Amino acid sequence: NWSMDDFIDMQIDKIRETVGDKKVLLGLSGGVDSSVVGVLLHKAIGTQLTSIFVDHGLLRKGEVEQVMASLEGKFGLNIIQVDAKKRFMDKLAGVSDPEKKRKIIGNEFIRVFDDEAAKLDGIDYLAQGTLYTDVIESGTDTAQTIKSHHNVGGLPEDVQFQLIEPLRTLFKDEVRELGERLGMSSDLVWRQPFPGPGLGIRVIGEITEEKLKIVRDSDLILREEIANHGLDREIWQYFTVLPGIRSVGVMGDGRTYDYTVGIRAVTSIDGMTADFAKIPWDVLQAISVRIVNEVDHVNRIVYDITSKPPATIEWE
Ligand code: XMP
Repeated sequence: NWSMDDFIDMQIDKIRETVGDKKVLLGLSGGVDSSVVGVLLHKAIGTQLTSIFVDHGLLRKGEVEQVMASLEGKFGLNIIQVDAKKRFMDKLAGVSDPEKKRKIIGNEFIRVFDDEAAKLDGIDYLAQGTLYTDVIESGTDTAQTIKSHHNVGGLPEDVQFQLIEPLRTLFKDEVRELGERLGMSSDLVWRQPFPGPGLGIRVIGEITEEKLKIVRDSDLILREEIANHGLDREIWQYFTVLPGIRSVGVMGDGRTYDYTVGIRAVTSIDGMTADFAKIPWDVLQAISVRIVNEVDHVNRIVYDITSKPPATIEWE
């Protein structure tokens, strides 16, 4: 029957014991998990930690700036910000299979790390924000693989790091509690989960800059309206998806033939199962009106009313 404070002390001891005087590299994804790992490791080993924040071009609007301000600004983490947008887009060009996209993004992520690590002196460890849920769903502990979450067990063979995964036994709510105990702002701690492959799995099929922009802009509107209506703590995860289908609409005197945006919003405890969120109609209407008015090339909004199972939370 351990408490979170015991957990923190235990992990700090364990990290110090494992790492010794070696150096650790951490990949910040912009999500809660890697941010908590960053603050925990910083507490344990201070300047022996170097964090790399890869901008793969698949992040949400404003995310890079937000993460830098909170982790570098507030906690003093040493963060190297890498602009790898072109690298990722080149590798992803023409690829539409979800698992292939995941693998490409995951591998490229590690390779960008490797390149950055090579510029640093003697890094031995790579820290990751793997959760218990990821361990289960990746089939590391069970026979069944549901999705190949890229942050688990996917290291290419030529990469020499040893892994440090201090959140491996925790569920999401426990990670948030841990973050609060570490003094992280509620903004950061209560941020909704965000997948490693980012918007890359929210543009269904082939990823293009035009489609990414639609997802990014519509997602920001959704987040703003959910917050404006005070629903951001109630809904576990909410985002927009671009299925890539176009349909007929009408604007003014003209016929349009533009994209459909899907809204996905779920309540959940740990992401293993989920219910679609019962967002009030007037809120959905406000979101719909804003997205269609403010985002070019969108003329239709649909709301995903499936739970998990049988659907997954993400569409890919
Ligand atoms: P699914 O779609 O499997 O998602 O119901 C469950 C939770 O996991 C997130 N997710 C991912 N996270 N890499 C990640 O780091 C991935 O490839 C990935 N796929 C899904 C998803 O956002 C949800 O919170």
